[in-house]
Amino acid sequence: GLPERVTVYEVGPRDGLQNEKAVVPVEVKAEFVDRLADAGHTVIEATSFVHPKWVPQLADSGELLAMLDRRPGIRYPVLVPNERGLDRALESGVDEVAVFASATETFAAKNLNRSLETQFDMFEPVIARALAAGVKVRAYVSMVFGDPWEGPTPIEQVVRVGTRLLDLGCHELSLGDTIGVGTPGHATALVEAFGDPSRLAVHFHDTYGQALANTLAALRAGVTVVDASTGGIGGCPYAESATGNLATEDLVWMLRGLGIDTGLDLGKLVATSVWLAERLGRPSPSRVVQALSKR
Ligand code: HMG
Ligand code: MG
Repeated sequence: GLPERVTVYEVGPRDGLQNEKAVVPVEVKAEFVDRLADAGHTVIEATSFVHPKWVPQLADSGELLAMLDRRPGIRYPVLVPNERGLDRALESGVDEVAVFASATETFAAKNLNRSLETQFDMFEPVIARALAAGVKVRAYVSMVFGDPWEGPTPIEQVVRVGTRLLDLGCHELSLGDTIGVGTPGHATALVEAFGDPSRLAVHFHDTYGQALANTLAALRAGVTVVDASTGGIGGCPYAESATGNLATEDLVWMLRGLGIDTGLDLGKLVATSVWLAERLGRPSPSRVVQALSKR
């Protein structure tokens, strides 16, 4: 069966903008987040507190959070890799952070400068301190179906990393197909391998055009939280083959057709993507945005 309601976890301001060549002015970022709130989003991943040299596009995270009008009832999680990032996030008064682990050795080295094992030395104090401060912690595990260097990722390796993050107290685990190589069979098998889907989310990049099909497979396997980015922008600067995320509008179009409630206003989402595309100087890759903005 399919769920009656799906929570769309919007990652455009973070996953989307971290990968744009153009540096987006902080005022535009703040307006972007506000427009997403107006469209009905209840969770908007706003930015990252990573090393500013690693991701210069999001170096203004403190400034952005100070500028945001954070509305009651909306969560604004931020990415945090380590204690330095957590300190910066707490100074900005965040109430939710997200740590991001790798399922493969090579990506742990490239994205975090750590190994598959030592990445946990970085996360453990972050998770413990965040929870003690009353801050919720989401976790990601990346490269769940494969990475550009090692090929297919063994499913047990993903389950091991992911379960460890959940056991540390993360309320949600987002399964990241960073380079978009998975297909629906992979999605079903991975969700089923975890046993209980109630704390899982899916995070599909659309590199091979499979994100929507994979999402449907994950929903049928019991997942109810789906990550997506406005207009399908995004990627990972430390995995060159990664393109944008599943577009929020493509997701909402499919869910609406299936009679699944998201609380989102598709017209406002499309208008926001068109507005953002003008600021980024390139059209949205989303088919639904293209179709609906031409009508
Ligand atoms: P490192 O070089 O090992 O850092 O990098 P370190 O711990 O050795 O510290 C070196 C210096 O950096 C120190 O300064 C620290 O204070 C400073 P010094 O004492 O030399 O003056 N530093 C920081 N400064 C500001 N903010 C911080 C911070 N941390 C250290 N947070 C590190 C390790 C984790 C910092 C680095 O690897 C990093 O920032 N990586 C982030 C990479 C990234 O953001 N990737 C994109 C997000 S992940 C993604 O997109 C995938 C996802 O979407 C899911 C999917 O698609 O699968 C989530
Ligand atoms: Mg991503």
